[in-house]
Amino acid sequence: MRWEVLLKKHIYALGGAGLLLSVSMLALPAQELTGELPDPPEFAAQSEPNFVSISDILEFRALPEYHEPDWVTSKYVETGKLPPVAERLPKEPMVYKAANMPDGIGVYGDTMRHVIGGRPEGWNYIGGQSQGWGGIDIGLSECLTRTGPLFEVKADELEPMPNLAKSWEWSEDGHQLTMHLIEGAKWSDGDPFDSEDVMFYWNDNILDPNVSPLNGGTPETFGEGTTLEALDAYTIRWTFKEVRPTQYLYAMAYGTFCPGPSHILKPEHPKYNADNTYEEYKNAFPPEYMNIPVMGAWVPVEYRPDDIIVMRRNPYYWKVDENGNQLPYLNEMHYRLSTWADRDVQAVAGSGDFSNLEQAESYVEALRRSAEDSAPARLQFGARTIGYALRMNLSGNGWGEPDERGQAVRELNRNLDFRKAVTMAVDRQRLGDSLVRGPFTAIYPGGLYAGTTYYDKDSTVYYPYNLEAANALLDGLGLMDTDGNGIRNFPEGTAGGADVEITVLANTDYGTDTNLAEGVIAQMEPLGLRVIANFQSGTARDDIAQSGQYDWSVERQGSEMVSVVQGTAALAPTGPRTSYFHRAGSDGTVDLLPFETELVDVVNKFIASSDNAERAELMKQYQRLYTENVYSVGLTQYPGALIINKRFANIPAGAPIFMFNWAEDNIIRERVFVPEDKQGDYELHPETLPGEPGGAGPM
Ligand code: GLA
Repeated sequence: MRWEVLLKKHIYALGGAGLLLSVSMLALPAQELTGELPDPPEFAAQSEPNFVSISDILEFRALPEYHEPDWVTSKYVETGKLPPVAERLPKEPMVYKAANMPDGIGVYGDTMRHVIGGRPEGWNYIGGQSQGWGGIDIGLSECLTRTGPLFEVKADELEPMPNLAKSWEWSEDGHQLTMHLIEGAKWSDGDPFDSEDVMFYWNDNILDPNVSPLNGGTPETFGEGTTLEALDAYTIRWTFKEVRPTQYLYAMAYGTFCPGPSHILKPEHPKYNADNTYEEYKNAFPPEYMNIPVMGAWVPVEYRPDDIIVMRRNPYYWKVDENGNQLPYLNEMHYRLSTWADRDVQAVAGSGDFSNLEQAESYVEALRRSAEDSAPARLQFGARTIGYALRMNLSGNGWGEPDERGQAVRELNRNLDFRKAVTMAVDRQRLGDSLVRGPFTAIYPGGLYAGTTYYDKDSTVYYPYNLEAANALLDGLGLMDTDGNGIRNFPEGTAGGADVEITVLANTDYGTDTNLAEGVIAQMEPLGLRVIANFQSGTARDDIAQSGQYDWSVERQGSEMVSVVQGTAALAPTGPRTSYFHRAGSDGTVDLLPFETELVDVVNKFIASSDNAERAELMKQYQRLYTENVYSVGLTQYPGALIINKRFANIPAGAPIFMFNWAEDNIIRERVFVPEDKQGDYELHPETLPGEPGGAGPM
């Protein structure tokens, strides 16, 4: 490469920072900094899924008769409080096939006792409120399609499962997708579910720039220029710029196309209520508001702050088993409001029923206790699908409104040599070992995880730990320690020549997040960077991250890195708000770095293509661009384990804690049951059903 070209590339990489490059740095060829990526330690997943077709799992059809728990009939139907079950179900309910249910047709009763570390902000999920995670929103919000259970679908038949959209077809030219909604299904308060709910979500939440749905749905999530219209109460039609972009079916699953109850939400939305601000719309349904109408299998009926959320079965749930038993089998759901670490402890001890073992610090203890014969819970490890990265805020044009120091850090973040220096100063082996020793953690260079089908080792560029070279790179950027205090200074004229101080955002709800961030802070010291902890609890952290008010952030990554097909729009800034760490600045544009323009192009091509060979090739390009340019600094990746109490039946083999979605979705909770002889006495509101929306609790 000619010198001028090289220089030009570096100047691009600086993004106008105005930092001076020394000639010696330009002479250092990139190859010397890269190295052989060690293979991850062998770690066999403990059980494999039984791979099936989607049509083996479910179908939509009317059955000759339907059943419900006896007490529902006697206490509610026979007293005139509820219509008979056949009238509460849609014309053709979703039917789970018995042959695909690991333990077959189930029985009614019992409770699943979850423990979570988050806290509910309120029930307006599509308006942007968190319910505290841990599977609450996953259970409440049914979506047009569903992807969690795809972990057990044959690879060559992979496509999202029907859900609220029971079927669909493409137009001849491939630009239009017509979807048929389930007909005659009802919200948990009996109000009909139809295209009005879908259009309210699309027009007044996705397309309205003042609303940010919880899991980040934006217009670009569904492709630039995409439109959606309702043809009638149960038919909707998408029009795409691309030809047959089947990829968007994944965006119609959790968490970007799960409509809320328009009959309840609309009256609070500023477009329909001149008295309300957007903030008031978002907050109109605080956690104390009970019986929010849902399409999910259980409805919140009790909330005690810092204690528990209790949910009861939805009498209008629209899914049944092959014998016509209305689901769910479990009458009640608990979400104890505690900590994520306590979720592991309680699940292992048997006072809780479920955990995604995902904080590596507790693995050894959890494994030891679960190995005992008397252990109340099963613990099953899967593939390495939990991964952490150090993300740098790449906006140079004002996202998050940085001050002078913050802006100077952004310019560094946008500089490739800077990102290389940081990645080479990370000792990943030590970082992983500091969480847990053993075969769990693997060196993670960033980009797609080694476990995904799209991963290609040869396209993965790895910059091994090399403190000396890292320091040389920063010298080359003119970041010298001018005052001799051990911390490098910005060059004169940048941020007053002050010490280079960088804040790192992390979530205090998870020990792993803050431990890894502490590790990064310590490892940046010998590089002469002072990294300062900005540790915040979950919701506050999420708000800061989404508004871009950070320099660096240590985060557990989403499903785009492991499934690639789920959350795809987050793989690059394909729209102003699709990326986690590079969103539009004050002028509404994303100031893409040159390699990001290439990434966007690759991701858009991937979305538009349905040719598997081409897609694999595109993801190789993606991986190369990503890792070569240190798009984010990979830290560690490791397997998680599903912990579930032994009394539960119908838990599918090989269910991963995280892949297309979290295990709470993967295990299909509405089909899970407890055999009669194992049922516990855990129901807090036995033989009750959800009451009036906004009312005082169960009836
Ligand atoms: C949190 C937990 C995960 C999972 C998800 C589900 O993020 O850490 O294990 O339960 O919630 O939303």
